Amino acid sequence: MKRLFTMVLPLLLTACGDASLGGNGNNPQVGSLPLSIIEPADNPSTNEKIALGRMLFWDPILSGNEDVACATCHHPNVGYGDNLDVSMGVGGLGLATERVSGALVLRNAPTIINTAYNGIDEDGNYDPSATVMFWDNRSVSLEAQALDPIRSLEEMRGEMFTEEEILPEVVFRLSQNSEYISMFTDAFGDSTINEERIGKAIAAFERSLIANNSPFDRYARGDNSALSQQQIQGLNAFIDAGCNACHSGPMFSDFQLHELPVDSNHKLVSEGISDNGVNNTFRTPSLRNVELTAPYMHNGTVKTLREAIVFYDDMANPGGDPDISQLDFEDVDAETIDAIEAFLRSLTDQDFDKSIPESVPSGLNPGGNI
Ligand code: HEC
Ligand code: HEC
Repeated sequence: MKRLFTMVLPLLLTACGDASLGGNGNNPQVGSLPLSIIEPADNPSTNEKIALGRMLFWDPILSGNEDVACATCHHPNVGYGDNLDVSMGVGGLGLATERVSGALVLRNAPTIINTAYNGIDEDGNYDPSATVMFWDNRSVSLEAQALDPIRSLEEMRGEMFTEEEILPEVVFRLSQNSEYISMFTDAFGDSTINEERIGKAIAAFERSLIANNSPFDRYARGDNSALSQQQIQGLNAFIDAGCNACHSGPMFSDFQLHELPVDSNHKLVSEGISDNGVNNTFRTPSLRNVELTAPYMHNGTVKTLREAIVFYDDMANPGGDPDISQLDFEDVDAETIDAIEAFLRSLTDQDFDKSIPESVPSGLNPGGNI
């Protein structure tokens, strides 16, 4: 079988004359994303299913008070995240940093671009029906994940419905809508509307949000001119330091949970909300399109990309993760930090679907009250 992705081999990294891998040669490699995605056997993508999923993603009919859509917090204008430290759901008004007075969500909204590849290992293998979702890996597969925000009190459900009531209510609403009935029929072959099909359609839409042709991808596939000298220097520094002990593979994530000494978010603390993840651990976030999704970390307490890099400089051993104590990143100079920042920006691919529907079948505002 033809390999559709490329790993950056140590030899490729000698472009700036630095062949040393800083003793981190045992860490997993990083590399380009595959050009195609793997779909679950029971949910092949079709144009009709993606079109339906896109409507469901934008339509606030999925929320209890019909005021919040998936796109409220995963909006293409802000890289399919929301640029807030932690998201604001039910009852809120406005988009991204303009958003006010919504219910506070525990965590920072990750981008959903490239979530089709979640779980991919350094050899390019992953099982789309078993792939982990969320900062604590608590949900498995895009299909299952898509129903979680609808059930969540703060994100979409609101006070009007219980967790048990909300999905039957959403199915009922969609079943009353002739446009949805015809879209479900086109997508699934008959007019049945149920929770499983909602999850499948949204997942198929999410799998269409791909950005796999960043300058770094082109470099890893052999175009030596795709990165600047500074970016190549940054890539080398990233590997020398051992960042790829965790930020590895084509998504720059091992999809494992780690403990890092991230500050508490004072906004949450003052509301009496605490979030310890799973024993203080959170999943290594992908660094794909990271430039677009500030602020950073599970609770958004790190404001800029530069701050996120400096965070690792001289990090006190949290007594948690051995990969952190092995980081070779103490007292790095400003030039190296600049180079790593330039390299992380080379992981940006702006060529993803940014289209916003003019209307959704419910007639409500696409994206909710934004
Ligand atoms: C109120 C804001 C908000 C809304 C609305 C929302 N999300 Fe999210 N989304 C988040 C936050 C915050 C997280 C991280 C939550 C966590 O890790 O516990 C997240 C995580 C995700 C992830 C996991 C990504 C990953 O790499 O692990 C996916 C996929 C996702 N959302 C899709 C959706 C879909 C589909 C909908 C609509 C059905 C939706 N979201 C509605 C805020 C929101
Ligand atoms: C031990 C594993 C590990 C190592 C080594 C590591 N990281 Fe991370 N990184 C993580 C985890 C886990 C998070 C999220 C932590 C949290 O939110 O609690 C993270 C977050 C980040 C973020 C923020 C991304 C976002 O979307 O919020 C950036 C940028 C980043 N790391 C860059 C680096 C760089 C640069 C290095 C090397 C100097 C590095 N990391 C080394 C595990 C690691």
